Amino acid sequence: MLHLVIFHLILLFLSYFAYLTHQACNQFDQQSLLSFQLYIPSSSLNWPSSDDCCLWEGITCDASGNVTRLWLPSKGISGTISPSIGNLTHLSNLNLSHNRLLGPLPVTSFPSLIQLQILDLSYNSLIDEFQSTLLSNHIELVNLSSNRLHGLIPSSYFQQAGNLMSFNVSNNAFTGPIPSSAWIDSSCSVRLPDLSYNDLVARFLLDLEIAPK
Ligand SMILES: *[C@@H]1O[C@H](CO)[C@@H](O)[C@H](O)[C@H]1NC(C)=O
Ligand SMILES: *[C@@H]1O[C@H](CO)[C@@H](O)[C@H](O)[C@H]1NC(C)=O
Ligand SMILES: *[C@@H]1O[C@H](CO)[C@@H](O)[C@H](O)[C@H]1NC(C)=O
Ligand SMILES: *[C@@H]1O[C@H](CO)[C@@H](O)[C@H](O)[C@H]1NC(C)=O
Ligand SMILES: *[C@@H]1O[C@H](CO)[C@@H](O)[C@H](O)[C@H]1NC(C)=O
Repeated sequence: MLHLVIFHLILLFLSYFAYLTHQACNQFDQQSLLSFQLYIPSSSLNWPSSDDCCLWEGITCDASGNVTRLWLPSKGISGTISPSIGNLTHLSNLNLSHNRLLGPLPVTSFPSLIQLQILDLSYNSLIDEFQSTLLSNHIELVNLSSNRLHGLIPSSYFQQAGNLMSFNVSNNAFTGPIPSSAWIDSSCSVRLPDLSYNDLVARFLLDLEIAPK
């Protein structure tokens, strides 16, 4: 009986401690989110819904109140991606798929997202060239499929992406040769990138087929 009481006291203490150590949203991150919202005038978001942005729809923070996840698929978001997204430097998961985002990727901002692991911007109307500096070397998954991205996919990109496991850029307007050696020889773990429905030259497919993998 006494054991049980002590056990419950310990539980109570621990949950109080957890409550005390929960930090409200990092104010700098909160400002960045409000700037992000300025660029998406029409959406079904009810931001800001409280003083603590960690409680807003689609937002997850770590224990210290830094925003780590921005997860807003299918929210009727139209507009562009604000450069202020680059100030969310603790972001690891970004999912804005199935919205109506237009225009370019904020290329000067993405390199600041040094913790980014998951990037899903599929099913939007983004128009841009792919930048070799776009993504962090923690990146594991890239889904940019079904947009209007164009230009070359630089091989240097894959050399930096040692943790990349999934890469889907199908249904865009990429052109030019794809050096398949880029990922066959490099350390990244992508085995079957999806590059379908682009204008990439067929030599790539040939190389991939004869590659000893
Ligand atoms: C949260 O962000 C602040 C400011 O960037 C940083 O000093 C702190 O280490 C971060 N906390 C974690 C858990 O990453
Ligand atoms: C992004 O969200 C959509 C809708 O919920 C989901 O289908 C998709 O799997 C998510 N992307 C990733 C990489 O988990
Ligand atoms: C990012 O934060 C800095 C302050 O450190 C600010 O000057 C800058 O305007 C912010 N960038 C954007 C695009 O909001
Ligand atoms: C994007 O691709 C990833 C990896 O294949 C997948 O998990 C995710 O569901 C895809 N996103 C959507 C919206 O289908
Ligand atoms: C890549 O994305 C497209 C949708 O844009 C989807 O149809 C296809 O199945 C995806 N490929 C892989 C390998 O998941």
